[in-house]
Amino acid sequence: VTRFIYTPPNWFARLDWRNVFGPRANFPIEIDLGSGDGGFLIGEAQSRPDTNFVGVERLLGRLRKADKKSARLGLENVRLVRIENSYFVEWLAPPDSISAYHIYFPDPWPKKRHHKRRLFNEKFVAALARTLKSGGRVHIATDHADYFAEIQKIFAGNANFSAISPQIFASKTDFEREFLTQNAKISRASFEKIA
Ligand SMILES: C[S@@+](CC[C@H](N)C(=O)[O-])C[C@H]1O[C@@H](n2cnc3c(N)ncnc32)[C@H](O)[C@@H]1O
Repeated sequence: VTRFIYTPPNWFARLDWRNVFGPRANFPIEIDLGSGDGGFLIGEAQSRPDTNFVGVERLLGRLRKADKKSARLGLENVRLVRIENSYFVEWLAPPDSISAYHIYFPDPWPKKRHHKRRLFNEKFVAALARTLKSGGRVHIATDHADYFAEIQKIFAGNANFSAISPQIFASKTDFEREFLTQNAKISRASFEKIA
């Protein structure tokens, strides 16, 4: 089954949410970037049926797991897109259309020479701002203190965002569950798009 995997008709044009969600497109849209096996996405989609959820993930195996779970639960408010996170935000997401981004445990690329592969940089955060609705939010969690400090610095440098107290959701991500059993320290932040 690939019932919930959405393949855009044109990878070089911005998505039309009516094509993705049909008549449901008027409900708020939240995006989970690097959704993995979909534990968080599917948990939230179950408990908030009046919100649309899009999982973005580059690994097909993980996307398929999330697809199967969504099918089993018959979740009409879930779609999955197989693409790079940054490409999705910079090139596919329409402006001023997204209510929230969830970015949990993005790969930290700990080696200095790999830092350029990290998801968060000025350009990416500017694209988050462009595609969020006014008042839209970005929620972040990571176990990597160093990367967390860098992320906070990047958001502080973007006048479109203000830091709000970290918002905790009912569902846990798959990695969060794993880290909690290891007693790892998890850092969290939420930011709101102002005007
Ligand atoms: C550490 S896991 C966290 C998964 C999930 N957010 C969680 O908390 O359980 C990072 C996930 O992001 C995906 N990922 C990493 N870099 C990506 C990228 N540039 N574009 C899309 N997915 C990416 C990985 O395949 C992996 O599933």
